[in-house]
Amino acid sequence: MAIDSSIPAKMTAVAISSPGGPRVLKAERRDVPQPGQNEVLVRVRAAGVNRPDVQQRKGAYPPPPGASDLPGLEVSGEVVAVGEGAVRWRPGDAVCALTNGGGYAEYVAVHESNALPIPHGFTFTEAAAIPETFFTVWHNVFQRGGLKAGEVLLLHGGSSGIGTTAIQLASALGATVIATAGSGEKCEACVKLGAARAINYKTEDFVTAVKEMTDGQGANVILDMVGGDYVARNYHVAAVEGRIVQIATQAGAVASADFSRLMMKRLTHTGSTLRPRTIEFKGQIAAALEAQVWPLLASRRVAPVMDMIFPLADAWRAHERMEEGDHIGKIVLDVG
Ligand SMILES: NC(=O)c1ccc[n+]([C@@H]2O[C@H](COP(=O)([O-])OP(=O)(O)OC[C@H]3O[C@@H](n4cnc5c(N)ncnc54)[C@H](OP(=O)(O)O)[C@@H]3O)[C@@H](O)[C@H]2O)c1
Repeated sequence: MAIDSSIPAKMTAVAISSPGGPRVLKAERRDVPQPGQNEVLVRVRAAGVNRPDVQQRKGAYPPPPGASDLPGLEVSGEVVAVGEGAVRWRPGDAVCALTNGGGYAEYVAVHESNALPIPHGFTFTEAAAIPETFFTVWHNVFQRGGLKAGEVLLLHGGSSGIGTTAIQLASALGATVIATAGSGEKCEACVKLGAARAINYKTEDFVTAVKEMTDGQGANVILDMVGGDYVARNYHVAAVEGRIVQIATQAGAVASADFSRLMMKRLTHTGSTLRPRTIEFKGQIAAALEAQVWPLLASRRVAPVMDMIFPLADAWRAHERMEEGDHIGKIVLDVG
């Protein structure tokens, strides 16, 4: 193992002291992890905050077996040590990476295939805001949903971290995006990012608005993080041969829907969760992103939308901000 002698034995990390509100996030001293087979050790400079971290903190989204108990699914930083068999990175390389948890810390070990170069010109805080939403959107919208240029994407949660990424990627790749969001300000942000139309779901019915906008045809792909009564409404607003991709069920995991619509329109309703997938699977997404999306990042055609940055020790404030729901885009921790 190639190792930098300046790596300390202990590090500061923010842990979930017990399931609960944001204040259960507490800084503590932990052993610096050792990079395993095909892993690299990253000195973390910034870590992205995602809704699944909030769910984990509440005890509603336990880490999969073998994963770190620390929150944090994405980081940016410098490689400081290279484990057995890892060949792609060398100490000093600047990377951003999807982690198997453990991002809220000064050091994290990641599989080399789940790390990507920091796109040219991006800061560490911007780079830490990329992996989780880009991996999720790439897999669910383009691979699972099969969105193609010229098709219509209906995207719920348009101003979320996931939503702001999906709007930019789908419109850059030639789709028409219609987003839903919960305020005028959030709708404006969606349009600025490239949505053809944004619907304030608190004042307008998205089924009527999308039907009007598409001359009654509906949306070819729907990315849904809401669930609940959106399931039936998505069936209503989907186009013939439409694909509905469920990535969360924030308004309820149990729903009733008119399945005759699913049959008559030959809909596909699918879904996935990224975290429990294998390292190899995530590595394949990383390779696709590097080939097809990294050039869009390098030219700044797409970029993470930065909401607020908090110091690592104030991770609880970052979670409070996310739970208040006023954020647009990504919240990031500066690890220093
Ligand atoms: N399946 C996966 O692999 C995967 C991976 C990453 C994230 N996710 C999920 O994707 C979602 C977004 O993640 P994120 O990190 O981007 O979080 P985020 O920025 O906090 O976004 C949450 C979004 O959900 C919307 N929302 C919540 N409840 C709603 C409701 N009842 N009706 C309509 N909209 C509602 C909010 O919209 P308004 O503020 O406009 O109300 C907000 O835009 C989360 O649910 C997360 O768990 C899934």
